Amino acid sequence: PAPGWVEPTDVAVVGSGIAGLTTALYLREAGLHVTVVTKVNVADGSTRWAQGGIAAVLDPRDSPRDHATDTLTAGAGLCDPAAVEALVTEGPARLRELIRFGADFDRHPDGALMLTREGGHRADRVVHAGGDATGAEVQRALEAVVRADPWIRLIEHALVVDLLTTSAGEVCGLTLHVLGEGSEDGVGAVHARAVVLATGGVGQIFAATTNPAVSTGDGVALALRAGAAVTDLEFIQFHPTALYVPGVAPGARPLVSEALRGEGAYLLDQDGKRFLLGQHELAELAPRDVVAKASWRSMQAAGADHVFLDARHLGGEFLARRFPTIVAACAAAGIDPGRELVPVAPAAHYASGGIQTDLHGRSSVPGLYACGEVACTGVHGANRLASNSLLEGLVFARRIATDILARSPGEQPPATPPAEQAPDRPPAGPSVPDPLPAPARMAAERSRLQAAMNAGAGVLRSADSLASAAAELRALASESDLGQVRGTDGWELTNLVTVASALIAAAYTRQESRGCHWRADRPDPDPAWRGHLAGVLAPGGTI
Ligand code: SIN
Repeated sequence: PAPGWVEPTDVAVVGSGIAGLTTALYLREAGLHVTVVTKVNVADGSTRWAQGGIAAVLDPRDSPRDHATDTLTAGAGLCDPAAVEALVTEGPARLRELIRFGADFDRHPDGALMLTREGGHRADRVVHAGGDATGAEVQRALEAVVRADPWIRLIEHALVVDLLTTSAGEVCGLTLHVLGEGSEDGVGAVHARAVVLATGGVGQIFAATTNPAVSTGDGVALALRAGAAVTDLEFIQFHPTALYVPGVAPGARPLVSEALRGEGAYLLDQDGKRFLLGQHELAELAPRDVVAKASWRSMQAAGADHVFLDARHLGGEFLARRFPTIVAACAAAGIDPGRELVPVAPAAHYASGGIQTDLHGRSSVPGLYACGEVACTGVHGANRLASNSLLEGLVFARRIATDILARSPGEQPPATPPAEQAPDRPPAGPSVPDPLPAPARMAAERSRLQAAMNAGAGVLRSADSLASAAAELRALASESDLGQVRGTDGWELTNLVTVASALIAAAYTRQESRGCHWRADRPDPDPAWRGHLAGVLAPGGTI
């Protein structure tokens, strides 16, 4: 249907975590009007859930070169050195700007920022807030500034259905559906000179994830439908220490931050042995893929579904002060980490790949940018270094805003596309959800997809397991008649299937193990695969 309403703006930003909100704020500082569209509430994305912190070189004994080295080492040969250089050299200034926006980080009595360490870092360079509530503080601060700015329009509870393009192939806006409105009043369009996707990750394609419910890969699916290049989707990072509560169904699993290991906690197998000792010189603070694999092997060897984190020696008082979020999550599960071992297991945590961008955040489609977890800027390679993700959002938000301005310096283009630039195809998407698919049916299909992905494309994959997952996804797509489904749940399911299929195609194609892509049938890195996959990531996958 034609959109029921059209809103003109300068730039449309999709997503409201650190990447989306800082992009909006930098654009506003340059005087542009911004419309931020977000799927549920502003604070419902994964930024608010971030615990560990933001990595940035602030200690005089540290250096951008050392931060770059640690980032490149974790990335296992696939980082773009120029993107890493931008990240580590511009990061400290962006962090100071975040403080200027109002974020309040933990400090020593003399006012200096407290710095901690996480896996893969060889220096203390991670700032944090509220102990382990860094993301909550960042989200609070950014949301307050955004809400106070009358020239930033926020549209909450709206799912972006498709991107609009001109006849010249440039992205010039988007169509969206305001949730809960089944009539055509709920279908609208935002016309803009650029669209920035900042929709976060894809964790909900897996049964066990640390990601919130909104992380359904919408941005990658939108980009694929618009013909934008995506890359490195096979590199899903599994966080080794998600709280595992035996008997409780998987799903969003509370994170037990790596910062806890940074402060001295260690991992034990079922016999109470520190299984990381001797496996890596940094032991429990090895890069995340090393720790997740070691945990997985230990679980397989013992026939167990978890290992243990031991923080008892840190003391209940210290834990409550430094890690209030984790202590509360453990308490809700009946565990006192000051006195008991904490059961943990790997869970899908972060998409190192995503929409391929250049150093200015531009995708391969003119007018379309990507920022934050949804993007693949090249800073993470095959495995993201801890606490580099919030930093990436900050650094590339600023670069994107600068690029959008540079494309038309001083010009105030009409926010509404001129006639010759009017969308040349109808807004995709569904009209009136008639009849709405039964939510229960959609929930069952989603669980089926998540189970297939956990079993076939999880921490450890093989050609056979990936082929089984692909077959299950094909069956699911045809049985649920995805082309016909309507309503938010149906569109989200379509996005989940699109992204999961593309991920499987990439993981199947990459015939090696590298970074967080671990294949039982190809257990070693192969120099011949030291590159990025192109051309296999199409909607629906190719296997
Ligand atoms: C953590 O706190 O362990 C997660 C930090 C991150 O994913 O960068």
